Amino acid sequence: MPEPTLRAVSARAAAKINLHLGVGAPGPDGFHPLATVYQAISLFSTITVTPADDWSVTCQAAPGIAVDQVPLDETNLALRAAKLLAERAGVTHPVNIHIAKGIPVAGGLAGGSADAAAALVACDALWGLDRPDLAELAAELGSDVPFCLVGGTARGLGRGEIVSPLPDPGRYDWVLLTFGEGLSTPEVYGEHDAIYDGLARPEPDLPDALIDALAAGSVTDLAAALSNDLQEASLSLRPALASPLRAGIDAGALAALVSGSGPTCLFLARDADHAASLAAELTSYGEVLTAHGPVAGAMVVES
Ligand code: C5P
Repeated sequence: MPEPTLRAVSARAAAKINLHLGVGAPGPDGFHPLATVYQAISLFSTITVTPADDWSVTCQAAPGIAVDQVPLDETNLALRAAKLLAERAGVTHPVNIHIAKGIPVAGGLAGGSADAAAALVACDALWGLDRPDLAELAAELGSDVPFCLVGGTARGLGRGEIVSPLPDPGRYDWVLLTFGEGLSTPEVYGEHDAIYDGLARPEPDLPDALIDALAAGSVTDLAAALSNDLQEASLSLRPALASPLRAGIDAGALAALVSGSGPTCLFLARDADHAASLAAELTSYGEVLTAHGPVAGAMVVES
């Protein structure tokens, strides 16, 4: 069994958005086949793991992020990630996991998955494991966790866990409108199924126009190619999202869409200055953040 060192290790992982989210009919396991394009954006969760007598989780959130929705018990995904890695690697030494949360909770931004990815990377470094197969453990923890390890821009197939990087030489500036009350991902998928009940759903695929826009680094082509099959379901559960989406377009956003299962709304700007001015126009609807992508995946930041 590897011997623990007595230091703390911090790692961070980024939020994800879906530039395209194609959703098929659910399989026998209840999961939906996806064809998605993920992009990691510059909102981060930083996890610090410190050797301790017992397993525990503590959490501190950036201003505007509802920390009370983060479970501090056995269901916490970062804790589950650390324990899964310990179990598979034969490590018996507990850690305290401290989450410095910069990603809104239950917002369609993979905040919990980013915590889990950062916890895997931090524990791997703390315990000196250097395991190449963290992606397999990540896939056991949740559909978005493998992408949070990899970051950048990537296609996601299967239930989202089969990730392969895509060429994306550009930089994109986003405005995010977030809300204190999140949406439950299973409920949004359930609403999607209710909307499509009895209707044929083709196998989801990835639009060439999106892949080409990314390869060309064209923000206007990207704006035209963004899409999210879960948007209708999020809007059905949260009709109030329609007005800020419209307001963003009226204010000059190149595109407006719901992020993943929502309720976070995404607005694509021409550049960072344009994002700042759009953000100022949207403050009456919720908490407004700006971020850019793509950014790197989970990595150790200090030891
Ligand atoms: O994989 P993850 O734990 O993040 O998924 C959360 C929930 O979202 C699942 O329990 C399932 O209800 C839904 N989901 C789905 N199809 C996917 C991914 C997630 O139905 N491809």
